[in-house]
Amino acid sequence: MARITSVHKDRRWSGKVNKEPVWNARRGHAWADLQPLLDRLFLPFGEIIIDATLTDRIRDVLDIGCGTGATTLAFARRRGAGRCTGIDVSLPLLNVARRRAEAEGLANAQFLEGDAQRHHFAPHTFDAVISRFGVMFFDDPTSAFANIRGAIRPAGTLTGVVWRSRSENPFMMAGELAAAPLLGWTAPADSDAPGQFAFADAARVENILRDAGWDAIDISPIDVPCRLPAGDLSTYVRRMGRVGMTLPDLEEGLRATVEVALDEAFAGFVTDGAASFDCACWLVRARNPPD
Ligand SMILES: C[S@@+](CC[C@H](N)C(=O)[O-])C[C@H]1O[C@@H](n2cnc3c(N)ncnc32)[C@H](O)[C@@H]1O
Repeated sequence: MARITSVHKDRRWSGKVNKEPVWNARRGHAWADLQPLLDRLFLPFGEIIIDATLTDRIRDVLDIGCGTGATTLAFARRRGAGRCTGIDVSLPLLNVARRRAEAEGLANAQFLEGDAQRHHFAPHTFDAVISRFGVMFFDDPTSAFANIRGAIRPAGTLTGVVWRSRSENPFMMAGELAAAPLLGWTAPADSDAPGQFAFADAARVENILRDAGWDAIDISPIDVPCRLPAGDLSTYVRRMGRVGMTLPDLEEGLRATVEVALDEAFAGFVTDGAASFDCACWLVRARNPPD
């Protein structure tokens, strides 16, 4: 039976303080440490968001769950860019984002520490809101998207990418499925609970956005080819996801057994020195109704 030396508490947002425990603890540090790797991996999604968002009139942009800032900075670098603001609950990630903006001299990139569901944004100040995988973690998504809409000018747009279902994303599930029998975990099921796959159901997302006051809602499937060099793959599977959060707490022998199972599970994705796989996502677009 699995022996876990200490328990990493996967606590959810309490709503009482302006700190999200998970993203300020091990998960946040993993995303901060792996920023270059994750930005290479998810680069195509930033390009998809930029292509879907940009029109001449887009200047001021709000990036929800900006993490280490890749998409905020990409918008801030554009010729004619206005104020590009990233908001995130995670201080370790914001520290990286702020350092990157400073290193590039991007004075128009700003980063706010806050919960986008509850933050008091200045009303109607942004032309567009964007997000790369940063909007699936709200405990009340309808109130979050209503709050975010209040920050956007009339006729302003929302563009984001979120994950489709677990079953459509075998690469994202391979580690958890390989470790489950060794750690006594039950097979993960799709659910609406806050987390990576909370927006897998497009009809639900559409209802959330409509109830939050957005219109012109368009939710389209995108299957995005992604690639991870084999060296990065080993780091990725040991640091990310539910398994990455649990491995440091396992006793040495069990950890080694799980790592063998992980390497076997991911070997099937590797050809020519890199893992290649499709990410099954939704490209979500909506508009704040015009006045
Ligand atoms: C999967 S990461 C994506 C980070 C970044 N957008 C990227 O693509 O690299 C999700 C991000 O959402 C942030 N987040 C989670 N809940 C949030 C909330 N209620 N308000 C703002 N940010 C939140 C996390 O701290 C984390 O940085």
